[in-house]
Amino acid sequence: MRIDIITVLPELLKSPFEASIMKRAIEKQLVSVHFHNLRDYTELSYNQIDDYQYGGGAGMVMMIEPIDKCISKLKLERHYDHIIYMTPDGETLNQSMANSISLSGNIIILCGHYKGVDQRVRDLLITKEISIGDYVLSGGELAAGILCDTIIRLIPGVLNNETSALTDSFQDNLLAPAVYTRPAEYKGLKVPEVLTSGDFGKIEAWREKSALERTQERRPDLLE
Ligand code: ADE
Repeated sequence: MRIDIITVLPELLKSPFEASIMKRAIEKQLVSVHFHNLRDYTELSYNQIDDYQYGGGAGMVMMIEPIDKCISKLKLERHYDHIIYMTPDGETLNQSMANSISLSGNIIILCGHYKGVDQRVRDLLITKEISIGDYVLSGGELAAGILCDTIIRLIPGVLNNETSALTDSFQDNLLAPAVYTRPAEYKGLKVPEVLTSGDFGKIEAWREKSALERTQERRPDLLE
């Protein structure tokens, strides 16, 4: 998969790709991530990429021209399955959306700033608008990092068997079961006996029950 990220603040977003699972996925060449600084696509003085909004009001709006130039250049080079705009009024990200985007070949992610982008960018250039939750960030960069993490870990070969995404929370609309590691007893608190029994049938049944109980207690909406 190839991910092209368009941003005015690439430095805000680079470090997540330089550590842990996303770094490994890049090293294994299962994904490549490319940053494009919008300021490289404007001819205005001071590398201006935003302007006052028509009709007045507080807050600057990102202009269409630099965004159009950047996206058009990328589209000349290859086909994109999704051109995504990160915005608090987009569709809320969930696991099934991440599963579906992870099947893409190439995607573009546009990070918004200020009061957002000129509506014509959304009408003409964007194919998918995604929010990571009902709260407002200062820009779309951290949201783009979260989107990339959820999709990259789903690409076959990124996780090994032990960390397989198939056992993650939400994969079957259930939260993940409780997990334990050594020691078997700590300050009087014991690990459930079945987990140390070696009986894999019983262990599997216990995990299913634990996942169901957790989901009923914490997220009954997932069971509806
Ligand atoms: N940009 C600002 N807030 C955001 C959010 N909640 N989701 C996605 N992009 C955003």
